[in-house]
Amino acid sequence: MPNPLEKKHIVLGVTGSIACYKSVDLASKLTQNGALVDVLMTPGAVKFVSPLTFSSITHRPVIADIFSPESELGINHVAVAERASVVIVAPATANTIAKLAHGLADDPITTTILATQAPVIVAPAMDAHMYENAATQENVAALQSRGYVFVGPATGRLASGLIGLGRMLETPDLLGCIKMVLSRGGDLSGRKIVVSAGGTQEPIDPVRVLTNHSTGKMGYAVAEAARDRGAEVSLVTTPTALEDPFGVNVINVRTALEMRSVLLHQCSGADALIMAAAVADWRPAKAADHKLKKGEAETWSIELVKNPDILSEIVGEGLVKVGFAAESEDLLANARAKLLSKGLHLIAANDITAPDSGFGTDTNRVTLLDREGRATELPLLTKYEVGHEILDRVAKVLA
Ligand code: PMT
Repeated sequence: MPNPLEKKHIVLGVTGSIACYKSVDLASKLTQNGALVDVLMTPGAVKFVSPLTFSSITHRPVIADIFSPESELGINHVAVAERASVVIVAPATANTIAKLAHGLADDPITTTILATQAPVIVAPAMDAHMYENAATQENVAALQSRGYVFVGPATGRLASGLIGLGRMLETPDLLGCIKMVLSRGGDLSGRKIVVSAGGTQEPIDPVRVLTNHSTGKMGYAVAEAARDRGAEVSLVTTPTALEDPFGVNVINVRTALEMRSVLLHQCSGADALIMAAAVADWRPAKAADHKLKKGEAETWSIELVKNPDILSEIVGEGLVKVGFAAESEDLLANARAKLLSKGLHLIAANDITAPDSGFGTDTNRVTLLDREGRATELPLLTKYEVGHEILDRVAKVLA
């Protein structure tokens, strides 16, 4: 199962900013995901966080002094640069960005970056005025023109107490960016994959909606898996509690009709559509303009009209179509009927009766049915892994 971080040499350059504390979390998450993390620190960074903190997490030596005979750089000053899969400088101060832009090499980070062939990601963290200063902006532009990937900064509360542009991004975004950069040249590079997620909300009145239990987790996981294989990904989603995945074009919708119109647009020129969304088959015939009152009646009926079947409607030359079938009985028979009636290449028959599967869980149990009549029952997997199983098959059809 592809894990883009497994056994990858990630060089994490840490410079002198209070945001150093966030890099400890980044080093930890990278290590937990199987990456081999070499932490390089500037003298300024060491004032904020001890090298021991990082080496305790990564179980690898930290390099904070290029001239130390005990450090790997002291023996071979390009060793780390040569084995790097990717270098990320997080946090990156204005000073380090300036040094990188001018090709200086006077600390472990700038020396390594000058010598590396690996892609370099820069996550700035500084006061807003320092970031907006023309000198910094010119340095950023110079590095971007040389292919450096800048991630952030975000607007928020800064160490000075002011609110402004200069906050380093949080770990999930930095991890997403690293995975995206590592996925360059993946088997879906140059492909556009459209994914839908969440449960549509069909308004009854300004207060109430008809909806279902979908949390969006399955669709978001498919979108991340596609990003991690190099695809350009559009995720069309209803409101969820989930963070937007880094590097994915997220488009928010509420109703089935909105989802349909966005998907029709997004699928033009796309290579695949993967519909994990739970789309309401019916919607109230008319949404009331004002909140409906309880009144005296003991019962209440809502007239419903059929929503369009989005998957059936969308057809595109060469578009690979994948559906999900959430079923509580006759799983395979119902799923196969949907595969055929909606003209799909593949459908994930989703058993929603098991507690570890279906709505809201991080894992899923699906059987993949294809139009050639094959049925592959997958074991219990994370939703991200299910995404890769589906994408393995999509990639084969596209090839
Ligand atoms: O979001 P989670 O909490 O992670 O839950 C994931 C999930 C259970 C919602 C997901 O794995 C899943 O099974 N999604 C499909 C749910 C569903 O409603 O299936 P369906 O059998 O009603 O529809 C079959 C397919 O047609 C689906 O791909 C659906 O997106 C699509 N459809 C349905 C109705 C409609 N009007 N238009 C459609 O395109």
